[in-house]
Amino acid sequence: MNALIIYKSYSRMNTEKVAKAMAEAVNATLKKVEDANPEDLTGYDLIGIGSGIYAGKYHKDLYKLLEKIPRLEKEVFLFHTAGKPDEKYDKPMRELLISKGCKVVGEFRCPGAAGLLGITWSNKGHPDEQDLERARTFAKELFHG
Ligand SMILES: Cc1cc2nc3c(=O)[nH]c(=O)nc-3n(C[C@H](O)[C@H](O)[C@H](O)COP(=O)(O)O)c2cc1C
Repeated sequence: MNALIIYKSYSRMNTEKVAKAMAEAVNATLKKVEDANPEDLTGYDLIGIGSGIYAGKYHKDLYKLLEKIPRLEKEVFLFHTAGKPDEKYDKPMRELLISKGCKVVGEFRCPGAAGLLGITWSNKGHPDEQDLERARTFAKELFHG
């Protein structure tokens, strides 16, 4: 199986840590959304889409990329890091992907340290090693059925 993970992470690089742990666990190709083109998604059996949650949403760069793709008949999984990880943050992205023809085969959520100006007010130290191990296990289970 040939997997690609596309992610957006900019605040604390929390989502990047999760994306890297997943990619290393299953030998997936890893791409920042800033470096990804619609053509990059062809040629993979499984695609992971990951983001931090910013004002209730996956980052707009991910929507911009996916909206350029008219049809995407692929297996995909979603993951996010957030102050308060919640299924409600996945729903709009899941619906967009389904509308493109994707089959959503998994969703992973993880607490991410949140704060501003060097002050952390929630989830200090997350994602931690236990979170990353959960991420690896999630990816391996998807990969190996
Ligand atoms: C501008 C901004 C808005 C945020 N909005 C939310 C939010 O609506 N809900 C939430 O649970 N966390 C929110 N957070 C916390 C982030 O989702 C969390 O820190 C996440 O792990 C950041 O991912 P990153 O380090 O990969 O960018 C917000 C953080 C920032 C910087």
